[in-house]
Amino acid sequence: MNKPAVLHLFPQVDITKIKSTKDLECSSKPHKRKPNQINDLDLENWKSLDHIWTDSLWLIPQRDNSGSHTGEYHGNFVPQIPRQIIQRYTKKGDVVVDGFLGSGTTLIESQRLGRHGIGIELLPGVAERAKQLIYGECNEHNVYNEIIVANSADVGAKGKIHNALKKAGKENSNLVILHPPYHDIIRFSDNPNDLSNTCSVEDFCNSFGTVIDNTTFHLQKDKYLVIVIGDKYSNSEWIPLGFYVMQEALKRDFKLKSIVVKDMQGNRAKQNQQQLWRYRALNGGFYIFKHEYIFILKKQ
Ligand SMILES: C[S@@+](CC[C@H](N)C(=O)[O-])C[C@H]1O[C@@H](n2cnc3c(N)ncnc32)[C@H](O)[C@@H]1O
Repeated sequence: MNKPAVLHLFPQVDITKIKSTKDLECSSKPHKRKPNQINDLDLENWKSLDHIWTDSLWLIPQRDNSGSHTGEYHGNFVPQIPRQIIQRYTKKGDVVVDGFLGSGTTLIESQRLGRHGIGIELLPGVAERAKQLIYGECNEHNVYNEIIVANSADVGAKGKIHNALKKAGKENSNLVILHPPYHDIIRFSDNPNDLSNTCSVEDFCNSFGTVIDNTTFHLQKDKYLVIVIGDKYSNSEWIPLGFYVMQEALKRDFKLKSIVVKDMQGNRAKQNQQQLWRYRALNGGFYIFKHEYIFILKKQ
């Protein structure tokens, strides 16, 4: 049987005798600990890491609206999502790639945390605004940022990421975050390459699979791909987009590490229509979406 992860830190501890974390503290024999390869968190002082979430249910009462996080872009995610992920799965100086940049939330956070950022966005106007927001903040760790206007589902995106990595003096990226359109729930444009315009769920999943191929091509082995997505309704049916896109990743060389469920109580799309949705739910025999998913996958 595999030992729980925490016991790897205390290899001399007899697993059968542990009743509480106190027993871990009492283990007195010194031992060599492997250096932390994934992040900069100080596990010697793991009790001081209250700001790092380890539960699979994320209830976020308020979005972070500090600095450039204006929340103005319809369809953005709360900055706490990339912040938690970047702190957990990268180190300072690593490279974070976002394949659906939108208003640049991920790159604002990676810059604040001292990670280089590469973002791809299909729509030039949206990319331009993201640039303003990202460059509007102080780049105190002097990281490299590149905003690429391109179709993430086009094979050319691979080469563009490669060139950006080269400019940053890197061979590989260390984290890929993908927050795609939730199929056609919000139409971002009438550009035919926009994933919100794919004509069926199947097409959406196929294009999303190609985005995974392109954006994770340079992702270092043993590093992480994180997908943020919610489900949708169509013709009185719950369409589990989240699990479909997770499957796309699992068809490739990724191991599922966690599924986080995040609440979306404040979702603006439905705020004014809550009563209508409640009536529809009661009448139609379904439940109203109040959550979305964060899939955490490790490249093999
Ligand atoms: C859900 S939003 C991402 C929001 C972002 N996380 C933020 O916080 O602002 C999805 C974005 O993907 C963009 N997009 C859609 N299809 C794309 C494609 N094929 N390639 C690149 N970007 C695409 C849309 O224009 C939209 O800005």
